Amino acid sequence: MQILGIDVGGSGIKGAIVDTSTGDLITEKFRLKTPKPAKPEKVAKKIKQLVEHFNWKGKVGAGFPTPLAHGKCMSGGNLHPDWKGVDVNDLFSKTTGLDFTVINDADAAAEAEMHFGAGKGKKGLVAVITLGTGIGSGLFFNGSLIPNTELGHTTYKNEAFEKYAADSIRKKEDLSYAKWGKRLHKYFKHIELILSPDLFIIGGGASSKMHKFKDQIDIETPIITAENKNEAGIIGAAMGAYDGIK
Ligand code: BGC
Repeated sequence: MQILGIDVGGSGIKGAIVDTSTGDLITEKFRLKTPKPAKPEKVAKKIKQLVEHFNWKGKVGAGFPTPLAHGKCMSGGNLHPDWKGVDVNDLFSKTTGLDFTVINDADAAAEAEMHFGAGKGKKGLVAVITLGTGIGSGLFFNGSLIPNTELGHTTYKNEAFEKYAADSIRKKEDLSYAKWGKRLHKYFKHIELILSPDLFIIGGGASSKMHKFKDQIDIETPIITAENKNEAGIIGAAMGAYDGIK
């Protein structure tokens, strides 16, 4: 089935039409800048613009970068505090007149990875961790998503771990990859203790730099790199609308 997949991020909003049976993008990607401040109405306008670019009338799936339950934003997180309590499904559906399914961005990227990437056929407990502006997570047991986990919000020194170990913090504090890798070691060690997973898959923007920090992470659980890289969020968002993952 063809579905328009949209990945809403802190800096960009990207979309493409996806063939959900193969995970292929069947159009070029189109990207708009995330408005600043990223308030609900402004972001919704950009979503409309993106839908119009594709002249799209069918189903749409969107990945959204905040804690989410049944399409409703639970906290504005890295986007904007005004999002808290907003039914994102409803807002985007009303703004565009189309049938939207909004899921968490990391769940979306992780779905794509498990179906079409590094996680294909992997059984047991698999934790896909995305390293970007925040730390996102998608947790799977025997290939099925356990939705809405927020493993970047486990705490370190009374703060969300993502405030210490996200890729945006590496940039902000100008950390070397070796230093950042040590922080990631603490993070993965903590998650390993909580979950005892069979496998970690690292996705998100920083996954292409894995070779620069992987050696710092010394844990028992195997760690592999995501394969879909930048496109996973778009592909998984479309799959969410197809499968009805909420
Ligand atoms: C949010 C998650 C999101 C992650 C990656 C975190 O700050 O709480 O919902 O998946 O960032 O965007």
